[in-house]
Amino acid sequence: MTLEARTQSPAPSRARSAKRRAKPAWTELRRHGEGYAESTLVHGDNLDVLRAMRDEYAGRFSCIYIDPPFNTGRRFEQYDDARPSEAWVEMMRPRLEAMAPLLADDGALFAEIDDTQLAHLQLLCDRVFGAHNRVSTVTVVRSAATGHKAINAGPVHVTDFLLIYARDRKKWRYRAQKRPREGMDRAYGTWLDDPDAPRESWTFRPLRSAAAEHHGYTSSREATRDLGAPEWTRRVEAFALAHARHVVRFAQPRYDAIARAAQRLVDASRGAPDRVMWMARPGRPDFILKGGNRILFLADKVADVDGRPSVVEPLTNVWDDIPFQGIAREGGVVFSRNKKPERLLERVIAMSTSPRDWVLDPFAGSGTTLAVASKMGRRWFGIESGAHALTMCEPRLERVLAGRDVSGVRPGAAPRGGFRVVRA
Ligand SMILES: C[S@@+](CC[C@H](N)C(=O)[O-])C[C@H]1O[C@@H](n2cnc3c(N)ncnc32)[C@H](O)[C@@H]1O
Repeated sequence: MTLEARTQSPAPSRARSAKRRAKPAWTELRRHGEGYAESTLVHGDNLDVLRAMRDEYAGRFSCIYIDPPFNTGRRFEQYDDARPSEAWVEMMRPRLEAMAPLLADDGALFAEIDDTQLAHLQLLCDRVFGAHNRVSTVTVVRSAATGHKAINAGPVHVTDFLLIYARDRKKWRYRAQKRPREGMDRAYGTWLDDPDAPRESWTFRPLRSAAAEHHGYTSSREATRDLGAPEWTRRVEAFALAHARHVVRFAQPRYDAIARAAQRLVDASRGAPDRVMWMARPGRPDFILKGGNRILFLADKVADVDGRPSVVEPLTNVWDDIPFQGIAREGGVVFSRNKKPERLLERVIAMSTSPRDWVLDPFAGSGTTLAVASKMGRRWFGIESGAHALTMCEPRLERVLAGRDVSGVRPGAAPRGGFRVVRA
């Protein structure tokens, strides 16, 4: 059955039937899952499909992720990745042009690439989406400088790049992401005895003294002697994390950047260095000072990561915390060299979508984006021209739907809603 036939109403208006006539006759191969199959996997060339989506899917996608052939000069088992640079650009241009109208007003496109075509892709995207809508170029660290890569002349290549373009930068809805910090920020070195006591009576001492007392030592020096510096530091950090409401740092406020009332409080606090002073700020944490310095709480830096409390920091444009090694088994499909880590897609989807939003991947490969979108409760649309659309993506997505994928992110998540597989 064709999609055209499936969606035809008994008495379509002339305009609507003209639109329908313009659609290609995609052949539905199969459906998976209960109820209406909202998500779609298309086996076919993405250019025709993206163009044909224009009416039905215009402005629908909050996130478009593309991981096109990088033009690495290699010939992979599943596809050929060697063409002249100009031919690569000519392949990409119409596809990007066809993707642009499919983005939601507050949506964004994420384009993964290595440095072979980075410059060309950026220029192309600047043209299609507008340079003013470029949000960031993220450096994604894929590997370390080991093994055969080190024999090439010049610096060892260990990175991909992720170009991020908003459909409209002013409207883009960024869901701020945090990442766990390596080690603790040593500036959080002060212990507040009782954060629930009236602020006027707050008392402070070094964090390490409080940790030593907690562990039954008379001093931090004694604990270091007994345990060795690395182990003692580890224990102090664990203690701080477990009692984050008590752990603070003092930070000089940027006098020029704060409101007049806050400046007055800073002046007063400098004049009475032993007193704790504060002012309430609507919708924000209180502005608390001692000796002219702000009191900042470790608790405000702690978030749940993978079910455990961790000290986090805002995500930057260098992503070196997502391993590309050890992903061979993710999704239960073998797609050597080209498969991307599910954690990478989880981050991309989390920063650009909410549950039930739509995600598009027109170079689906082994189906990583679609599998992660599905596990995260997003609706998705994927296109893949290779035979692996049916031999990798489809079975992978079927396993996810059945809650049988225990690899990658959110193992065993059993999403709702089915999907259909069509041939373009
Ligand atoms: C780098 S791989 C994507 C890998 C994917 N992100 C994953 O994690 O599995 C690029 C994919 O784009 C597909 N592809 C290339 N040209 C295409 C086209 N014109 N239409 C649809 N798919 C295409 C290739 O077959 C290949 O599977």
